[in-house]
Amino acid sequence: MKIDSHFDVIILGGGAAGLMCAIEAGKRGRKTLVLDHAKKPAEKIRISGGGRCNFTNLHSSPKNFLSQNPHFCKSALSAYGPQDFINLVKKHHIDFEEKTLGQLFCVHSAKDIIEMLLIELAQAGAELWLETTISDITKSVTGFELATSAGRLSCESLVVATGGKSIPKMGATGFGYQIATQFNLPIIEPRPALVPFTYPSTIAETWAAMAGVAMDVRASINKVAFDEAMLITHRGLSGPAILQISSYWREGQTVALDLMPREKFSDFIAQRRKDTPKAMLANALSEVLPKRFAGYLAQTLKANEIKLAELSNTMIEAISQMVHQFQYTPGGTEGYRTAEVTLGGVDTNALSQKTMEAKTVPNLYFIGEVVDVTGHLGGHNFQWAWASGFAAGQVPRDF
Ligand code: FDA
Repeated sequence: MKIDSHFDVIILGGGAAGLMCAIEAGKRGRKTLVLDHAKKPAEKIRISGGGRCNFTNLHSSPKNFLSQNPHFCKSALSAYGPQDFINLVKKHHIDFEEKTLGQLFCVHSAKDIIEMLLIELAQAGAELWLETTISDITKSVTGFELATSAGRLSCESLVVATGGKSIPKMGATGFGYQIATQFNLPIIEPRPALVPFTYPSTIAETWAAMAGVAMDVRASINKVAFDEAMLITHRGLSGPAILQISSYWREGQTVALDLMPREKFSDFIAQRRKDTPKAMLANALSEVLPKRFAGYLAQTLKANEIKLAELSNTMIEAISQMVHQFQYTPGGTEGYRTAEVTLGGVDTNALSQKTMEAKTVPNLYFIGEVVDVTGHLGGHNFQWAWASGFAAGQVPRDF
């Protein structure tokens, strides 16, 4: 078969991980091409962080990642950490700011990060071909051959950086998993993560009526807990606490919500009973919870008309239980349509943790979200994209 162009490295996917890998490979003098089927590169960077891209997290460490092998991400993250990316951002004079919990955002626009990556890519001499589809990949004696809409291409090293399945309307596909399967690499079943929960039908109407209510909660499943904001929407629960815990949730499981995570309800109510014994329970609750939610709780407890002085110890215990251990069983999740990331992916046991190369297929690499490494909310997913892209971009080391 006639080959139209040959490259040292072809990277499939011009998102965060693919561009970082191409920059590193190009800088080392490797003839590098990035292929993407989309019209524009890095569309997810553009929409990330509400348009301001939470590009890393100062405290990013292996404990912020989920994977069947929690140790896998350590090597890449220690070779390329948050400070390395911050240095790159500073080199390009991009203004950024720290939000809560070490999250770093662009001050102006996520587009600054895309522009920075494209400048670096051009300086590294790497090429980017957009609107190019890949229809076939075969292993050759010296590397790989690809049938694409831009002709037949060959390369020594093939890097798969096609991301996960989340937000299909932005170009997400399961292509990376398909390639892994073609080369007999195991996949940890992908599922939507960092995703809002939907309501079970039993409470949908009542809760949807409270849409817009936001409060700080501790959302937990077993021993994993997140203290952040929760938002009640028309369709279900969202907000950072919910998105974070959704990565740990499995169908049928119940999420425990502590609706008053910073204070003990029993202490609060004891004080209120002393100060204002004639006050109504719903009013007292609305001092510590959003008013509409306090009313809902009082109604659920059939305690709408009860004054604080009238509360029995059993009732206080029941309310306390509800406030600190509210049992929420999601109907499901919003799925890939709105999930920020995809949990699971190419099994890390099949990859080298230093280089991301497939152990059984020399010169085939998987980086970024397609790999079974998924970060918490707050800049960790981009940090994994940068770190894994950097790791694969250094190979071969003696080049
Ligand atoms: P990514 O998905 O970025 O790139 C994959 C590329 O492959 C795309 O350009 C796609 O077009 C291309 N591709 C796919 N299939 C292909 C095929 N068949 N042929 C050719 N090309 C193909 N993370 C974070 O750390 N901070 C944040 O602020 C946010 N915010 C955020 C908001 C929203 C709405 C979403 C959906 C996600 C986030 N994330 C995030 C997560 C973050 O965007 C994500 O983890 C990274 O973009 C993953 O980078 P990758 O390069 O692996 O995949």
